[in-house]
Parts: sequence; structure tokens; C-alpha cells
Amino acid sequence: MSTPSRTTPSCNIARASDASTLSLAVQILANGGLVAIPTETVYGLGAAINNEVAIAKIFAVKGRPQNHPLIVHIANIDELQTVAVDIHNDAIKLAHACWPGPLTLLLQRSENVPMSVTGGRDTVAVRIPDNAFTRQMIIELGSPIAAPSANRFGKVSPTTAQHVCDDLQSDVDLIVDDGASFVGVESTIVDFTVSPPQLLRPGGIPIEDIEKILGYSIQGTDGISRASGMLQNHYQPACKMFLVHNDNEAQQLQDTLVSQYDRIRILDRCDNLPLYATLLYSDLRQADTDLIQALIAVFPENKGLGAAIRDRLTKAAGSGPPLPAS
Ligand code: TXA
Ligand code: MG
Repeated sequence: MSTPSRTTPSCNIARASDASTLSLAVQILANGGLVAIPTETVYGLGAAINNEVAIAKIFAVKGRPQNHPLIVHIANIDELQTVAVDIHNDAIKLAHACWPGPLTLLLQRSENVPMSVTGGRDTVAVRIPDNAFTRQMIIELGSPIAAPSANRFGKVSPTTAQHVCDDLQSDVDLIVDDGASFVGVESTIVDFTVSPPQLLRPGGIPIEDIEKILGYSIQGTDGISRASGMLQNHYQPACKMFLVHNDNEAQQLQDTLVSQYDRIRILDRCDNLPLYATLLYSDLRQADTDLIQALIAVFPENKGLGAAIRDRLTKAAGSGPPLPAS
């Protein structure tokens, strides 16, 4: 079987480890450009929060509706007070325990954050990414960065610089390559504007870890994201996806699908959830690259990182979760 050929789009990629990359990235952001930034979760499409033109470009490049709010990235916990007000003590406790890391706090917006960033809301989503280059870039820019995942709206999030290049090509001024994102799924979002706090999106930090730090349970832990702007169809590859509960079901389904599809693949990394998460978006993209027509993905248990993986698989399949095992 021949390997499908791919054309390499033209992109401006610079390695994070190159001495000149940091100042170049800062200069582009200061001049109202867009920089694709490495983070531990997925690559982000970054712009300085106070540059209205740059923020507008994020929405245009992504093809994202203007009322879908962006996450604000800061470099130090002290900066939290500049982007948010009336911050609950438990939010600060979580921030100290989890940052830098894949946790996003939803808080009351301070006036320093333009409404264009928050999609017209009085709340702001904030996190400190676990990537030294990106934090240093924020410090040298002297401004927080707004960054959604660096993919076109509704498509699979990027976990490598090459993914960003494949999606956005020259629509982004610079892509900073710092290797593959090691968490692989987006941050966990916890809403502290309501009491008690609620889970808006399962993500890279398991909700059980957050509950342990807080000492109480968090609502909204049924595993389906409810953050505004999160759609049923999201993170979607081009191939048809099927969700099953275990390897047996996967094999059986494969046997029934062979009459319909020539190229079928089973995705099952349930024995290693961190790896399932790290490689999930690469696996979805690879299925398309390999012209897979039917991808059968095995659903992990709803605990730990399994919650985020289930959420993303469900949205990638554009259907509900698999029916309960009979
Ligand atoms: O790991 C991540 O969170 C990555 C990296 C780049 O930091 N970012 C990311 O951004 O996933 P994005 O835009 O793809 O997803 C952000 C989610 C959206 O569902 C958005 O609706 C929600 O966060 N969000 C942001 N601000 C919000 C707000 N003020 N109120 C409610 N939801 C908000
Ligand atoms: Mg996204």
C-alpha cells in the first residue's frame, strides 16, 4: 500500500532553544502580530491582550465566533490580581498548588482585560502555562497573552509546531517550536465565579487531584465540558469515528465494518492514560494523514485523565458517548 503524499506548507517556524527566538517573538507580539506558542497542553495562538487588532486577528484566523472567550496566560501568580478581581481564597490555593500547569481558573474580570478577550463577559479564564519559553516571553512582553488552541475552529488541537503549520500556515506570523506538548489535552477549567466552584472542562489535571487540594467535591464531574463556546462537534478529524468500551467491542465492530470501509484503525491506549492523552491529537491527525476511513476508539474509564480523554473523543466523534456496555 503506498503512503499518501503530503505537501509541506510554508510557515515561519523558529526553535525555542535558538538564542534569537525569544526577542523575535516578543517583537512580533509587541507589534500586534500573532505567535503560536508552546505550552504543556496544546500549542496556543497568542496575542497581547491589550492589542485589539491582534485579538481580532485571532478570531479571524481561527474562524472563531467573536463571543467565544479566550484564555489569558500569565507568567507569575502575582499577575493574577491585575487580570482578575474578587478572587476566592480557594482559587488562590489551587493556583499555588497547580501552577505552572494545566489548570485554568474562571474568575471575575478586572478592567485591565478587554471585553474582546472575554467575548463580552465579566469573567476571565486565566492560567500559567508550564513552559519556560512562553512564560519568559510574557515577562519580556510585559503583558499577558490571550491564546486559544492554535487550530481552525472545530478542528483537532495542535500538539506540535508542525500541526500548527499544517493548519494555519502563513496566517500566523511565527510558530515557536519547543517539541511536542507533554500533557496533550487542554487545561482543566474550574469556575470560581459560582459557589461552590464547578468544573467547566475536564483537562490535563484530573478533577480528583483538584478535589483533594480543595478538600471538597466539585460539581460538573460527569465528564462533558460545559465551557461556553464548547460545541458537541469539536476536535474533529475528517474520518468517521466510532466509540466503544473495550478491545473486544473494538474487534467486533471492526469485523462488521470491513464490508463498508477499506481502511479501519483501532485506537486504544487505555492501559496508559497519560500516553493516551499525550498522543490523542497526534493519533487523530495521523488517522487522517493515513487516509483512515473509520477510526474505532476505545473509551477509558471515567477517572483521572480518562475524563478529559472521554470528553475529547466524544466531541471528535461528533456523537454521544458509546451506549452502556451490554
Ligand atoms: O490548555 C489550554 O487551555 C489551551 C492552551 C493554549 O492554554 N487553550 C485552550 O483555549 O484550550 P481554547 O480557546 O481552545 O479553549 C478555551 C475554553 C473555551 O471553551 C472557552 O469558551 C472557555 O475556555 N473560556 C474562556 N474564557 C471563558 C469565560 N470567560 N467564560 C467561560 N468560558 C471561558
Ligand atoms: Mg480549542
